[in-house]
Amino acid sequence: MSENFVVTATAPVNIATIKYWGKKDEKLIIPVNDSISATLSSDYMCAKTTIAISPNFEKDQIWLNGIEESIENPRLLNCIRNIKNKAKIGTDKLKWKIHICSENNFPTAAGLASSSAGYACLVYALSHIYNVKENISDIARQGSGSACRSIYGGFVQWYTGIKNDGSDSIALQLAPASHWPEMRVIILVVNDKQKKTSSTIGMQRTVETSKLLHYRVKYCVQGHIDKMIQAIKNKNFDLFAEITMRDSNQFHAVCLDTYPPAIYMNDTSHAIASFVHEYNAAANSYKVAYTFDAGPNACLFTLEKNVPALLYTITKVFPTSGSVKDYITGIPINIENKSINAPEINISMQSDLLKYVIYTKVGEGPTLLPDTESLLNREGLPL
Ligand code: DP6
Repeated sequence: MSENFVVTATAPVNIATIKYWGKKDEKLIIPVNDSISATLSSDYMCAKTTIAISPNFEKDQIWLNGIEESIENPRLLNCIRNIKNKAKIGTDKLKWKIHICSENNFPTAAGLASSSAGYACLVYALSHIYNVKENISDIARQGSGSACRSIYGGFVQWYTGIKNDGSDSIALQLAPASHWPEMRVIILVVNDKQKKTSSTIGMQRTVETSKLLHYRVKYCVQGHIDKMIQAIKNKNFDLFAEITMRDSNQFHAVCLDTYPPAIYMNDTSHAIASFVHEYNAAANSYKVAYTFDAGPNACLFTLEKNVPALLYTITKVFPTSGSVKDYITGIPINIENKSINAPEINISMQSDLLKYVIYTKVGEGPTLLPDTESLLNREGLPL
């Protein structure tokens, strides 16, 4: 039995290449279709969570990014209850109060997939506190659907399942990050002030109002899933790129078919999509693919060998008024090299359409951190 009653963990963000959009069970979070994602390296974007249980704590408490929040969140309580149901520790300890402290190492305001990392981290840390060994992706799923895919590294499939209780709606790894080590990810964080409809509300409205969603689920997604699995297995970037972009476009078409429409891509997002198609056309092959979630930011997939020319071109087409050094964060890279051979693109947008660019790669699943990384002090309060 585990002797640890304080656990600190990190969990990664994941980006879907075949999108989850729509639930057939709102409460259990069972999706209307399978989805596939790539887990991103925790080095540049991750959630970090410390959980402590103690007979001395007076009440359950949670702090998110430095602010105490109410623990009375049904999804959060569901995750805690479900883990406790599978717990293998003494019953006395199940009664101890719990303190949870969590933060992201990237700005939540950037609108990046923070709930996937957050709930994956919470459930992973809980599973270590309560000594739960089985597949925990179905529990992470009940925090936020996309979180179940962040339980694994590399390329991950989330299965809809057929059981009404959702017990077979789980995520499993298709291939580890090491299977396709050249895969790289570039996130373009778009400057945007518009308030967006949350994924939860947006997809609920889509299920209620969009006929196109039902067409997508019935006739299209399985084909996308099969081709994506084939692309990943064979490391076929052309197929990967085409299916990723088609699925993203179809997801946003379905959002537009929602009534009233859920509009997530803005003018800059569309400019990025056009840029990607022009770049590939100029290079005469697939060099890069885009995908957009429920917000305007773009996630680009490319191979390592294409990165210098692509990043160089991005800084020309979407210039910053600041320094290029501060503009590109993540994996260190020098794009000032004169020998960079970039395809000719004749578009140039105004400065500062993008806030910044994160250069990262596909990475591993959640991990435990040493006690020195704890976010809680000995009294169980945030440091
Ligand atoms: C567009 O997982 O945030 O990112 O299950 O209601 O919490 P809830 O929704 P969430 O939806 C993510 C939607 C998406 C596509 C995807 O990640 O597959």
